[in-house]
This record gives sequence, C-alpha cells and structure tokens, in this order.
Amino acid sequence: MKILGIETSCDETAAAVVRDGVEILSNVVVSQIDIFAEYGGVIPEVAARSHLEVILPVIDKALADAKCSWDDIDAIAVTHAPGLLGSLLVGTLTARTLAILHNKPLYAVHHLKSHVYANWISGAEANFPLLAMVVSGGHTQILYMRGHNQFEIIGTTVDDAVGECFDKVAKILGLPYPGGPNIARVALSGNENKYRLPHPKVEGLNFSFSGLKTAVLRAVQKEVGMEISYPSHLLKDLLTPEQVADFAASFQKTAVGILQEKLKLALEKYPDARSVVVAGGVSANAALRKALPKAYFPTPALSGDNGAMVGAAAYYEIQSGVEPVNPYTLNIYPRISIEN
Ligand code: KG4
Ligand code: ZN
Repeated sequence: MKILGIETSCDETAAAVVRDGVEILSNVVVSQIDIFAEYGGVIPEVAARSHLEVILPVIDKALADAKCSWDDIDAIAVTHAPGLLGSLLVGTLTARTLAILHNKPLYAVHHLKSHVYANWISGAEANFPLLAMVVSGGHTQILYMRGHNQFEIIGTTVDDAVGECFDKVAKILGLPYPGGPNIARVALSGNENKYRLPHPKVEGLNFSFSGLKTAVLRAVQKEVGMEISYPSHLLKDLLTPEQVADFAASFQKTAVGILQEKLKLALEKYPDARSVVVAGGVSANAALRKALPKAYFPTPALSGDNGAMVGAAAYYEIQSGVEPVNPYTLNIYPRISIEN
C-alpha cells in the first residue's frame, strides 16, 4: 500500500510516498528556516504563504522521486492538528482537493502521532507497552502506548516546550533560529559544567521549561553585569564566543538532564514498559541521544517535520481500523490533544 503523506503544520512544507508504513519511496522537505532565521522565529502568516507557494511542486517532486503516478497512490494522509492555523489550512485544503480530484481515501493524522511513527519508519524494533517521549518545538510529553495507535498522556509540560526553550535560550545568546541545532553546534566547544542551572521542581511526570530560560537569562545578566532584559541584541553583544559556548553547553546539559530524569521516573512508574521511543525535533539532539542509549530515536533526517512520518502514522491507523475522513468536510484543530 502506497500512501502520500503531506505535512505543513509549522514551517516545513513536506510530502513523501511511503510503502506499507515502513519503506520510504520519496521524502521531500522544503524548510523555511532561511526566511525565519532573519526574524528570529516563525511568523505564522509568512509560513502559510510560503506553504502555498511550494506545496504543489513539493507534492509533484515526491511523486516523481517515488516514480509514482496518481494511479499508484492508494491513499493520501495529511496533518490536520495541532499546529499553526494558516499552515494547517494550506496542507489540509490541498490534500482534500487532491483526494476528491483523484478519488483517493483521505486520512487525517495528529502531528505528534506522526512524530512517534518516525521511529517505526526508521526501523525501531520497539515492543509494547512502551513509553514515547515527544520533544518538539510545540510539545513535551511522555506517552504510554499499549499498542499501535493507542496513546495515553502520562506527563506534559505545564508551560514552554523543550524545543521552544532551546529557541528562546538561543535568542538570549544571539544564536540564529532555529535555536536547537545552533545550541547543539556551539555547545560542542563549551564547558557544560561552567554554569549551574537548576532543575525545576515539578510534580510527577510533568515538565516545566520557562524557569530554565529565565535562569539562563539571569546567569547571562550576572555574567555581563547588566540587567538588560530578554530579548536583547545588546546582551549577546557583551558575551564572548567562549561564554556563549559555555552557556549553550551548560543549558543543553540541564535540558537533557531534565528529560532524562523524567523519563527515568516514568519507567519507575510504568515498569511494564518494554521500550522507549523518542520523537520530535529535539530528538535530533546528539547529547540527548547519548544520554538515552537504550531508547529508539528516528534517523536525524526524520526527527524534524517530514511527510514520511505522516504516511507511516496513517498506515498504522489504517491497520488499526481507522476510517478515512470526508474530504469535503475535514477540519483543522490547531490545539487538539493526541488523546482525542
Ligand atoms: O518537531 P519539530 O520540527 O517541529 C514541531 O513540531 O515543533 O521541532 C522543532 C524544534 C525546534 O524548537 C528546534 O530548535 C528543535 O526542534 N531542534 C533541536 C535540534 N534540532 C531541532 N533541539 C535541540 N537539538 C537539536 N539538534
Ligand atoms: Zn513537529
């Protein structure tokens, strides 16, 4: 079964053809990073317009790379939730129209589900029940999965997502958007024990990352001896490259430590969990991969947003008996939970 997966929930326009949920026949991702590096973050209206410009060529390329015509495609899958409203609209309306035009069944996929399924398409041999830790720009959650397509949230962030925290700390340090990969790069030459940053005190399996961002800001202010507030280009100009590297390394060590600590607690609370999978943009982080040697991770190329994971997630939904949606009425849900 060949599924065309379409993803436009944030700032990547992506389409892929996936065979039987595990084999990637093509995977095209057009990133808007260059546009948003200039602004220091995603601007929703600009993201939506960029999706509109490239979505049809991206889908054409995904079909061409897979050497498929529309006759070869058995189903279309699209991210309909959660994400940026305008971005989701472009992907879903395109998928709806193509499904009607080419008479294909249409499947609507939750973005976090597709991130989790990036693991299976990367060859994970995970056993149920398992714990899935989703670490992205918009979410930080630990999920308990009894089987395919069954998700129970057992921990979630009470404020910022971990990826958001990487992005905000990068801004404080004067590193370009997206912060995660840039912090990881700069941290390589830094001393991770230079600055002591506290782990937040949050009950149980929940996370909090806004305090960590503030702790970095306070430490930077102390280091430069000035109370300039966030975000300020003045603040970063006062830091030396060595200090930036040390802050990046110390912050990364703390963020990874928090994730590691909560996952350990989750494994204690759910001792029947037989595997751990990690997913979402932050799962590309090498320090996190090193800290969790027993967990499954997607290949780095599939950690961020892509269409292949959407096709994979839809395949497992179909196997679980999920019905196609009505292409004339499919809606988008910018904030809906994975449990719905
Ligand atoms: O999953 P994703 O591509 O989009 C969302 O669904 O949010 O995640 C994007 C997030 C951004 O916050 C980005 O800074 C972070 O993932 N990220 C990383 C790395 N690569 C991307 N964070 C830490 N280390 C990385 N290597
Ligand atoms: Zn994502």
